[in-house]
Amino acid sequence: MVFGTGNPHASVMFVGEAPGFYEDKQGIPFVGAAGKLLTDLLGSVGLSRSEIYIANVIKCRPPNNRDPLPDEVETCQPFLIQQIQLINPRLVCSLGNFATQTLLGKKVGITKVRGRAFRLPEFVLFPLLHPAAALHQGNLRGSLEEDFKKLKQVLDTMNEECFSPFPSEPSSTPDQRSVPEPSPQPIQMNLF
Ligand code: URA
Repeated sequence: MVFGTGNPHASVMFVGEAPGFYEDKQGIPFVGAAGKLLTDLLGSVGLSRSEIYIANVIKCRPPNNRDPLPDEVETCQPFLIQQIQLINPRLVCSLGNFATQTLLGKKVGITKVRGRAFRLPEFVLFPLLHPAAALHQGNLRGSLEEDFKKLKQVLDTMNEECFSPFPSEPSSTPDQRSVPEPSPQPIQMNLF
């Protein structure tokens, strides 16, 4: 089982899909090629792995890295939810389709929602492309880097709010550019 790794007091948490070969061997998420890319991209926005927390939706490696099955997602989801509740991050970055759909509770393609911030009841969700997708399709590398540039803006805004003597209340008005009719009503923050 590959549970999670990182700072248990992290304010930023990343959620991937499922462990692969190297993660399964070491019992640690994101230690293979996708993990190396993730570590580099984190560094580009001033985050180190030791200050964030990383977990996956699925806690065991699917045979031959196949896509997780619906009943596997259903089985593992309560553990992910409890992990998020325990870590209690302000920002959760979902990597790829499975993590994003699991946390948004909506079957929406990652390309539609990537690089946007959604205010959920307990945290802000920020979906990004999965680093493995950028490794398999070289043309997505630039898009993933774009996502991380937007993530940097979100982090800077969060830090400003944190240090402001009068932190601004996030608008409750959904931004018209956001994804329509989402459920369970994630609201696009007025960050962009
Ligand atoms: N991809 C994931 O989604 N998770 C890992 O831990 C490694 C690769």
